[in-house]
Amino acid sequence: RRTVVVVDGPSGSGKSTVSRSVAERLGFEFLDTGAAYRSLAWLGTVRGTDLDDADAVTALLPEFVAGYAIALRPGERWVRVGDHDVTTAIRATAISAAVSKVARVQAVRDAVNALFRRLLADGAAPGVVAEGRDLTTVVAPDATVRILMTADESVRIARRSAEKAGEDAARVAATVTERDAADSKVVDFLHAADGVHVLDSTHLDLPQTVQAMMDLITA
Ligand code: CDP
Repeated sequence: RRTVVVVDGPSGSGKSTVSRSVAERLGFEFLDTGAAYRSLAWLGTVRGTDLDDADAVTALLPEFVAGYAIALRPGERWVRVGDHDVTTAIRATAISAAVSKVARVQAVRDAVNALFRRLLADGAAPGVVAEGRDLTTVVAPDATVRILMTADESVRIARRSAEKAGEDAARVAATVTERDAADSKVVDFLHAADGVHVLDSTHLDLPQTVQAMMDLITA
């Protein structure tokens, strides 16, 4: 039976870097679920869609679901929508600021969750590590291992700022704080549900956090 590890947490908790690294070590696949929401926000932006209009966002779904593709090997990094490689474009600050608008549309969540469940259930590797906001609670409450990654807000903002070196630090901080506030109205990624392990990386460096996640999985 395929091992399914799901990791939730707020922005800058380190869940993406740590989950990818753990997947690589275990020879598992890696699934970044946030990339789907980001890619849909990208599609809406290039189409000139009003992202505050839930019906207009929902109307993008058939094209999005048909054209969305993402790398599952942890050593590879690409995301595509149709013929467009959006790997870099979806990390833009404008997309980070807009993504919560598409993520709060229930029809969007239902459509992408169906996609995620298929990718978790079947694949080439003996296991998969997936990260997001509602995987432990909504997408895969029956996963083999469920983890909630946390870190103090100041640490999360510092990590995000380091990734976005060169950008205005106050703006990066505001984007993180506003996005977490908007997202946490839709899904609770700040409290661990029953049976979910909490991994607090506030005082851990990257190798220590990777080891802590490995320990939870192999325990
Ligand atoms: O990497 P970071 O924490 O900055 O964000 P992300 O994982 O790329 O997720 C981008 C956005 O997608 C989040 O801010 C949420 O609005 C949304 N998202 C979600 O609603 N549910 C998920 N399972 C994953 C992401």
